[in-house]
Amino acid sequence: ARKPTKQDKFSFGLWTVGWPASDPFGDPTRTPADPWDAVAELAELGVWGITFHDDDVIPFGTGDAERRDRIDRLAEACRAHEIVIEMVTTNTFTHPVFKDGGLTSNDRGVRRFGLRKILRQVDLGAELGANIFVMWGGREGSEYGASKDFKAAFDRYAEGIDTVAAYIKEKGYDMRIALEPKPNEPRGDILLPTVGHALGLIANLENGDIVGVNPEVGHEQMAGLDYTAGIAQALWAGKLFHIDLNGQHGPRFDQDLVFGHGDLTSAFFTVDLVENGFPGGGPTYDGARHFDYKPSRTDAGRSVWDSASANMATYLALADAAKEFRADPRVQEAMEYAGVFELARPTLGAGESLSDLLADRTAFEDFDAQSAGERDYGFVRLNQLAIEHILGVA
Ligand code: GCO
Ligand code: MN
Ligand code: MN
Ligand code: MN
Repeated sequence: ARKPTKQDKFSFGLWTVGWPASDPFGDPTRTPADPWDAVAELAELGVWGITFHDDDVIPFGTGDAERRDRIDRLAEACRAHEIVIEMVTTNTFTHPVFKDGGLTSNDRGVRRFGLRKILRQVDLGAELGANIFVMWGGREGSEYGASKDFKAAFDRYAEGIDTVAAYIKEKGYDMRIALEPKPNEPRGDILLPTVGHALGLIANLENGDIVGVNPEVGHEQMAGLDYTAGIAQALWAGKLFHIDLNGQHGPRFDQDLVFGHGDLTSAFFTVDLVENGFPGGGPTYDGARHFDYKPSRTDAGRSVWDSASANMATYLALADAAKEFRADPRVQEAMEYAGVFELARPTLGAGESLSDLLADRTAFEDFDAQSAGERDYGFVRLNQLAIEHILGVA
């Protein structure tokens, strides 16, 4: 496998390799490394950046002096190992105070506390050089129809995000917010369940210009959706600020598997889009290749670090395969045959008016729908070429 370098821009959440592997049915199976030691280990593997929740580094309730000491130790480890802190986020889901949400709890006192906890982490992120602030509202949701006034919940969610965005602007921080959608877990139903829901909310914000999305592979797949199409729409809208890469086997609990250990074909097309862009050009993603996975509960010791490396090795192998896929003349020909490039051509001609279209008999009256309906697109041949590139037998 190809070795990762800093140029690959790989980053990991400290909560990934730092997960003690407790689940709703079982106790922790391992004792994770301290954050600063994890930074050293990740640097050794070729990682470029890290990300963290406030509570990953500063346990909830830590006093000010101890808090400062822990921040300094993390910052020092990052300096020593030339690791970037590219994103930070806030834990508004673990402590019981957040059981009904941080920004949309029915309890106003909790919402004000949640907002303060978030703003405090914005300050810390800015201090440490993070440009992205992720907001994953895992507890913003419900299990029972009567328990929430949903109209009010969206008002409060928008109010909360707008307040954080206004704070970033007021402070002049070089930072943008990325909302992370998820359909369920830990709540029965979470607000902003998909990329599309999040984009819809952003369009209605006052400070939406600095708010985008952080889609996670597994979360879209939990909703039965195509991750690549989701990030494509976010790119199209100029809102793909960050990505969470991992693996998932369709709609079920959040698995957070290693990237590519779920739907490998889908992972290939994700990497193809991120690395090579749209076939017809357009906006591209140049942010972190960020992994939000969990080392399996059955792994311990060096296997934890091996699993971190597995994410990067799979990504790099798929990146190589995707480069070869795009360069393969048979693929270019199959794309041409399939009409992939034809889609980039506007449906109306340059300067064509609506009345021109209505007057164009070839567009309707004389259009041969019968033979157009018989056209062969050859999509399966094109997809088989992708499969053969993934398998290395093209
Ligand atoms: C999940 C989420 C979280 C978030 C993280 C960022 O497990 O469902 O992926 O890991 O990404 O909390 O705030
Ligand atoms: Mn997840
Ligand atoms: Mn998760
Ligand atoms: Mn995530």
